[in-house]
Amino acid sequence: MTTKTRQILVTSALPYANGSIHIGHLVEYIQTDIWVRFLKMQGHQCTYVCADDAHGTPIMLRAQNEGITPEELIAATDKEHRADFAEFHVNFDNFHSTHSDENREIAETIYKRLRDAGHIEKRTIKQAYDPEKEMFLPDRFIKGTCPKCGAEDQYGDNCEVCGATYAPTDLKNPVSAISGATPIDKESEHYFFKLADFEGMLREWTQDNHTQSAISNKLNEWFESGLQSWDISRDAPYFGFEIPDAPGKFFYVWLDAPMGYMASFKNLCDKRDDLNFDDYWKADSEHELYHFIGKDIAYFHTLFWPAVLSGSNYRTPTAVFCHGFLTVNGQKMSKSRGTFIKARTYLDNLNPEYLRYYFAAKLGNGIDDLDLNLDDFIQRVNSDLVGKVVNIASRCAGYIKKKCDGQLSAECADSALYQSFVQAGGKIAELYEQREYSHAVREIMALADKANVYIDEQKPWTLAKEEGKEQQVQDIYSVGINLFRVLMTYLKPVLPVMAEASESFLNIEALKWSDITKPLTSHTINNFKPLMTRVEQEKVDMLVEASRQDLKTEDSKQEHDKKERKASVEKVDSKKDPIADEIEFDDFAKIDLRIAKIIKAEHVEGADKLLQLTLDIGGETRNVFAGIKSAYQPEDLEGKHTVMVANLAPRKMRFGMSEGMVLAAGPGGKDLWILEPHEGAQPGMRVK
Ligand code: MSP
Ligand code: ZN
Repeated sequence: MTTKTRQILVTSALPYANGSIHIGHLVEYIQTDIWVRFLKMQGHQCTYVCADDAHGTPIMLRAQNEGITPEELIAATDKEHRADFAEFHVNFDNFHSTHSDENREIAETIYKRLRDAGHIEKRTIKQAYDPEKEMFLPDRFIKGTCPKCGAEDQYGDNCEVCGATYAPTDLKNPVSAISGATPIDKESEHYFFKLADFEGMLREWTQDNHTQSAISNKLNEWFESGLQSWDISRDAPYFGFEIPDAPGKFFYVWLDAPMGYMASFKNLCDKRDDLNFDDYWKADSEHELYHFIGKDIAYFHTLFWPAVLSGSNYRTPTAVFCHGFLTVNGQKMSKSRGTFIKARTYLDNLNPEYLRYYFAAKLGNGIDDLDLNLDDFIQRVNSDLVGKVVNIASRCAGYIKKKCDGQLSAECADSALYQSFVQAGGKIAELYEQREYSHAVREIMALADKANVYIDEQKPWTLAKEEGKEQQVQDIYSVGINLFRVLMTYLKPVLPVMAEASESFLNIEALKWSDITKPLTSHTINNFKPLMTRVEQEKVDMLVEASRQDLKTEDSKQEHDKKERKASVEKVDSKKDPIADEIEFDDFAKIDLRIAKIIKAEHVEGADKLLQLTLDIGGETRNVFAGIKSAYQPEDLEGKHTVMVANLAPRKMRFGMSEGMVLAAGPGGKDLWILEPHEGAQPGMRVK
C-alpha cells in the first residue's frame, strides 16, 4: 500500500450543454468516479472536476429553435445534468461551465501566450455560407445527395447509407440544413494554431506512457500523415468567446472546451483554502493530472491539448485515459429498439448502483467497446450482489441479533481466513489503480464465494440446534460478518450507497481501506435491512419501453419545431397570412373545442415565451403551456374564459406535460389575443 499522500486532479470530458446525459456517457462518468473514490479511500488528496461544454453552433441553433437564449438553454441543462450525475452518485468536487468568467480569462491568457510566441497564423479560407441565415455552415449543417451512391438527405461529411466520407463541396444539390437555402462559397480570415511547431514535444510526450498503447499507435499514424495547423476561429454569429484582438471572430468551441477543466478547478480553488491553482497547473508541477475521455475525442486530448498547454507554459497531463463506446445488446444504442437510454429514464425505473456495478464488472483499462447485455445485466447483478455479497450479511445477522444481543465474538475464530481476505486487498487496490475494474470485481466475487463456502461448511444452523455450541455458532457468524465488512470496503468505490447502508448495519464509521487489518470484535451491530434488492425483469422491460416513448415525444417535438420554423419563415416571406390547405369536414369534426376557465396562470422558469395555464373545463383541470407570454401578464389571465383544443394528444415539453392548446389570434409578439368568449359560456361547454 502506498504511504505517500498524492495530489491528484482528475477530469471527465465535459458533456455538451444541448443534450441529456445517457447511459453511454455514464460509462465514462462512472469509470472516473470509481477511480476517484478509490484514490480518496486510500487517503490521497484527489480532486474531481467537470463542467458543461456550453459553446458552439449546435447550442446556439438549438436555443434559437426553442425561442430561448443560449444562456437560458445552458442554465436549464446545467440543472438537469447536475441532478442526473448526483443521482448516479458521480461525486464531482466541482461542476462548472465553459461559459464562465474563469474560462474566458484562461482562454484569453492562453491565446495571447500562443500568439506572442508565434504559434498562431492567419489565413483566408473559403467555406460554405448560408446566404439566408447569414452564417457560415459547419459540415453537419449541410445536407445533400451523396456523390457516391445518390442517397438523398445526407450530411456534409459522410453518407449514412453507403458510409462514404467526403467534403461538403462534393455533395450534389447541397442545401443548408438550417434554412433550406443553397449554400454559397464565401471567403473569410481564420486563425490557426500551428500544431507542427510541437511535433518534437508531442512525439516525446506520447512515447512516455502518457497514453495507452492503442492510442500511441494511432498517434504515430497521425504523425506519419503530418500535423496540420488547426483552425481555432469561427465567424459571428457564434456562441462562444470573442477573440481578444479580432472583433467578430470567436474561439472555436474545441479550443476553450478543455480549458474548462482548468476553469472548473480555478472556480473550486476560489472556494477552498487547501487547493492552489498554480501548484497544479504550473509548467513544472509535480502534482498529477488525469483526463478520462472517450476514444472519439482522443485527437483533441492527445495532440491539440498537450500542445496548447505546452505552448502557453502550463504543465501537460500525467496521462489521458481513453475508454471505448457502449453498445446495448451487442448493437449501437438505438432509439427505435428502446436502447437509447437516458440517465433520467434509467433512474425512473432502476437503482443506479446496478448500472455502476455492471459497468465495473465489464470495464478494463483498454479502449475496447463494452456491451450492456440486458439479460446478463439482470443475471449478473442478482447473482453477484444479491446472491453472493448481501447473502453473507443476511445469513449471519439474524442469529447475532437474536441470540447474542447484536454482539460479535471477542475474538476472530478463523484469523487465517480473515487475513487471506485482507491480503487480497493489495492486489485489488493495484487493479483499481490500473483501472482494471472487471478484474478487481472478479477477485472480490471470488472472495465472496469463499465466504459463502466457509459458512456452508461450518453449518452453524445445525450446530445451533445442539446443546452448548452457542459460542461456536456466534464465532462462525462473527467471522461471516467480518468477511462481509472487508468485501464492502473493496466494493465501496463502486457501490457507495450500499456501502453506506452496510456501515449503518455494521454500526461503524465510514469504511476505510486502512481499517480492515483488524476485525471487529466484541462489537455490537444493528438490525439487518435488505442492502440491495433484486433487479426485476419487468422493470427492465419498462425501461426499454419508456426509452422508446422518449423517442416518440422527441420526434413529435422535432416535427413541431420544424413546422414552427417553417411557419415563422412563411410569416416573414408574405405579409399576409395565407389560408392553410383545405380540409374535409371530418377533419374539422375531430377537433373537440371547449370553453375553459383559466384558474391559474404562472411564469415558467427558463422559458421566455411560455406561460403555464391551469384550465378548468367543467370538473376537469388541464395543464397547458401557451406561447403567449409576450402579450399577457399571468395576473391578467386568471379568471378569464377562453377556448381550448381539448382532445390534442398530450405533449411532453421541457417544462412538463402540455394537455391541450388554447386558441389565440394575431401576428404574434405583443399583438396576440386569446379568444375570450362571453361569460355565459360555462367551462366544459362544447364550442360549435
Ligand atoms: N463536449 C465534448 C467533450 C469536451 S471535453 C473538453 C463531448 N461531449 S459529449 O457529450 O459528446 O461526450 C462526453 C463524453 O462521453 C465523451 O468522452 C464521449 O466519448 C463520451 N461518450 C458519449 N457517448 C458515449 C457512448 N455511447 N459510450 C461511451 N462513451 C460515450 O464530446
Ligand atoms: Zn452514399
